[in-house]
Amino acid sequence: MVTRDQIVAWLENLTVVLAENKDYLTQLDSAIGDADHGINMDRGFKKVKEKLPSIADKDIGNILKTVGMTLISSVGGASGPLYGTFFMRSGMAVAAKEELNNEDLLKLLQAGVDGIVQRGRAQLGDKTMFDTWSPTLETLSTALTTSDDTIVALQAAVNTAEQAMKDTIPLQAKKGRASYLGERSIGHQDPGATSSYLMLKTLLDTLVAS
Ligand SMILES: Nc1ncnc2c1ncn2[C@@H]1O[C@H](COP(=O)(O)OP(=O)(O)O)[C@@H](O)[C@H]1O
Ligand SMILES: [Mg+2]
Repeated sequence: MVTRDQIVAWLENLTVVLAENKDYLTQLDSAIGDADHGINMDRGFKKVKEKLPSIADKDIGNILKTVGMTLISSVGGASGPLYGTFFMRSGMAVAAKEELNNEDLLKLLQAGVDGIVQRGRAQLGDKTMFDTWSPTLETLSTALTTSDDTIVALQAAVNTAEQAMKDTIPLQAKKGRASYLGERSIGHQDPGATSSYLMLKTLLDTLVAS
């Protein structure tokens, strides 16, 4: 079971992790983009943190939808609408829920990633955040059929996410700003694939710690 308090703790921890990784994500984006991904994520989640006290007692669907709207309204660029859609859709997938079983957790993440794809039209191998999520969701789905331990399954998913993030290095970008570089985008890790890994890793760390 994942509780509402754990979801709120995840979002709080994400504000810390994204602040800590602001320079790192921005450096990655300076190689193949416009050097703002860390700034964007940090700004968005600082706004989320401001909102949290007023929504922390709502149901999980409501909390996630508010996070999505906050990101859409406070973050420009590609990542604001994409992560905004992720959280809005994930919130809709668990509407009115006060806690999540493993099936809910998978549904939440799957709906969020479907939202990213519908919004951004990325395909596997385009060197985007979707390249982290696609194999990661497969791992999570398989892991949850063999173990009902959420943390064990999430650990497997995080391992896949870390590898998938690194596997964006040799790819040529086909979406977003990085695609303007053509072959020069090869050899760099995708910033959005990296922030997506950090999101999942922070979820795992939050559940382990609570
Ligand atoms: N169409 C898309 N679908 C999925 N992810 C995308 C798409 N376009 C860009 N991205 C992701 O967004 C990240 C860049 O985010 P950010 O730097 O915040 O926005 P911008 O590119 O507008 O400056 C990329 O590293 C990539 O992972
Ligand atoms: Mg950028």
